[in-house]
Amino acid sequence: MRPTPPPRTYRVKSFGCQMNVYDGERMAELLAQQGITPAPEGEEADLVVLNTCHIREKAAEKVYSDIGRLRREDGTAPLIAVAGCVAQAEGEEIMKRAPAVSMVVGPQAYHRLPGMISDAVEGRRSVDTDMPAETKFDALPARRKVGPSAFLTVQEGCDKFCTYCVVPYTRGAEISRPFNDLVAEAHRLVEAGAREITLLGQNVNAWRDESNRGLEKLIEALAAIPELARIRYTTSHPTDMTQGLLEAHRDVSKLMPFLHLPVQAGSDRVLKAMNRSHTAESYLRILDQVRAMRPDIALSGDFIVGFPGETDAEFEDTLRLVDRVGYAQCFSFKYSARPGTPAATMPDQIAPEVMDERLQRLQAALNRDQLAFNQASVGKRCTVLVERKGRHEGQWLGKSPWLQSVHFSGEAAIGDLVEVELTEAGPNSLSARLLQPVHG
Ligand code: SAH
Ligand code: SF4
Ligand code: F3S
Repeated sequence: MRPTPPPRTYRVKSFGCQMNVYDGERMAELLAQQGITPAPEGEEADLVVLNTCHIREKAAEKVYSDIGRLRREDGTAPLIAVAGCVAQAEGEEIMKRAPAVSMVVGPQAYHRLPGMISDAVEGRRSVDTDMPAETKFDALPARRKVGPSAFLTVQEGCDKFCTYCVVPYTRGAEISRPFNDLVAEAHRLVEAGAREITLLGQNVNAWRDESNRGLEKLIEALAAIPELARIRYTTSHPTDMTQGLLEAHRDVSKLMPFLHLPVQAGSDRVLKAMNRSHTAESYLRILDQVRAMRPDIALSGDFIVGFPGETDAEFEDTLRLVDRVGYAQCFSFKYSARPGTPAATMPDQIAPEVMDERLQRLQAALNRDQLAFNQASVGKRCTVLVERKGRHEGQWLGKSPWLQSVHFSGEAAIGDLVEVELTEAGPNSLSARLLQPVHG
């Protein structure tokens, strides 16, 4: 690589889960601290960070087409850093396949980006996929300005090793950030404009503090911050759903009535082959318990169809489970064989057409339930946290306590928590009538 002038502007593009969104924000803050500014809308940036996702094949391949698109007509390109989970999984391979890339940085090493940029400016390419003992969090600058709904990573990595999943390899072992650091970061997020904080982790409910206290203790501590109105957490694993956390849904009013608890499949044989450590029944029991604590709770989950060996009858078990739960919203995916995972070499991989058909049937059921959930909300009064302007003049968009998108018209501003009556429901959003601002 030839030396290049130091970059003056950057763009960070994040793909994948919310943790990548959080990491993307932290990288942006780090670059800003180096005096590099966000590239204006529509203009090319001197430095592009592709913060990638490796969870499914399509997501992982996307990075190469994105790199291709960054190439200019004269064959040159901006400085390109590949970050995130593809960086971790493929490392040097990216350097070989994409000569335009000058930096490859894994999710646990991105605090070292400034040094890598200096190398790139001098014409040296670098790969850093270390998982250092010192955590990146201590090396990152303080949060300055955030939207009304902010993310806070509290736990990272995964020790569950579901047989289809790359996350334990790309994010490393489970670590919990210290209690005091998190409370301090939450305070800074609130000072920077957050009214809602979503606690993030690959297995967020596996978070423990130094004296083995669970996530509910952190939730209680954050609930004591007066200007913070709402708390959420995602993603949880059924195995780590403790009594204390279930009770927090009853006892902590700032904890929103929403639980994202992936189940993946409804057949116990498939769940076992996935190494999920729960059965359909044990999962349903947790949902019963959380509903007993908080009867209006909105439930959400993730599903995989076409796991190797899944029979028609086993897929029907998934549909039956869906019918029993009545989800408010869900994510569902076709199984994607990931290199290095045990499931990738299991016998009886399912044909793509079979997966397509199963996914369609599952999504039809999930869409039906999502619409029913939204329709059942009509007539309810609730708060909405205003997150942005709507498409029409005087229209605002925000989220209900149950994480539904809600739009309404009237006097409001971004960051307001307003009271509304939900008046009309569609599959993906609701309209509402503004009653009064709760907080200005
Ligand atoms: N830690 C969370 C989320 C992991 S990734 C959990 O345990 O639930 C988000 C979702 O992607 C998973 O819940 C799963 O539904 C899906 N997923 C993961 N690996 C996949 C694969 N190889 N093919 C298809 N979907 C996958
Ligand atoms: Fe992946 Fe399973 Fe860990 Fe979730 S719990 S991140 S699906 S290995
Ligand atoms: Fe994707 Fe990594 Fe998140 S693989 S889903 S970006 S943890």
